[in-house]
Amino acid sequence: MKRYLIGNWKQNPITRKEALALFADLKTDLAKLKHVVPVVCAPALFLSPLRDSYRGKKIALGAQDCGMETSGAHTGETSAAALKDLGMEYVILGHSERRAEGESSSVVAKKIRAAMSQHLTPVVCIGETERDNDGSFFEAIKEQLTDTLWGITAPDITKLVIAYEPVWAIGKGGALTVDPQIVHETTIYIRTLLTRKYDRTTAFSVPILYGGSVTDENAAELSDRTGIQGFLVGGASLKPAAFIKIGRVLDTATL
Ligand code: PGA
Repeated sequence: MKRYLIGNWKQNPITRKEALALFADLKTDLAKLKHVVPVVCAPALFLSPLRDSYRGKKIALGAQDCGMETSGAHTGETSAAALKDLGMEYVILGHSERRAEGESSSVVAKKIRAAMSQHLTPVVCIGETERDNDGSFFEAIKEQLTDTLWGITAPDITKLVIAYEPVWAIGKGGALTVDPQIVHETTIYIRTLLTRKYDRTTAFSVPILYGGSVTDENAAELSDRTGIQGFLVGGASLKPAAFIKIGRVLDTATL
């Protein structure tokens, strides 16, 4: 299965010039990765200049959200069709920072369908807000996964990427490394849910990434025998040396 290194720049940097400079610092080394698909998800306004600055095939570009509809009276929305037209290949959907703004799993489900109708690959984020000792977070993950993937057929589920991002682990930078055991047990749990909903072969065809304070320091232990196929990286994706190093770790890891 493919390995993914997906950078989520969030609302960074501020200017087009900085965005182009950051991408310029990444592209040569990212393009050298042999087994990893590098994807840069930048703020929507920078996607077009980034596309113009890079016509290569090795690094994919993506957005951080899209609308549910193709066109019409939806003030402020960016459609999957427009993203496709700009040369985008991926779109992050259901990120916890959007869910915190009130985006429900049923809205994310519609956005997944909108993205797929344009042949964009959705990077679908799920993750519990907190982890309690009695394991009720498993129920939260199950509910979110079930509602978010509502109506997605077996052939379609293999065309998306799932990112397990425990909300409590996001944005802590080097201050927190999630116990790899947690990542491992959750990937097993997600695959079990997918196997029940679809079948085993289908479940094992869906890439599951981990996201939440991945750094160049902890990438090796977070990828080692945790059952993941890559990382969704926020903070460290803005630091070229760190992001490239995480890519190299994935490139050589035994996944
Ligand atoms: P982080 O962000 O790597 O800064 O924790 C990950 C994400 O929110 O996708």
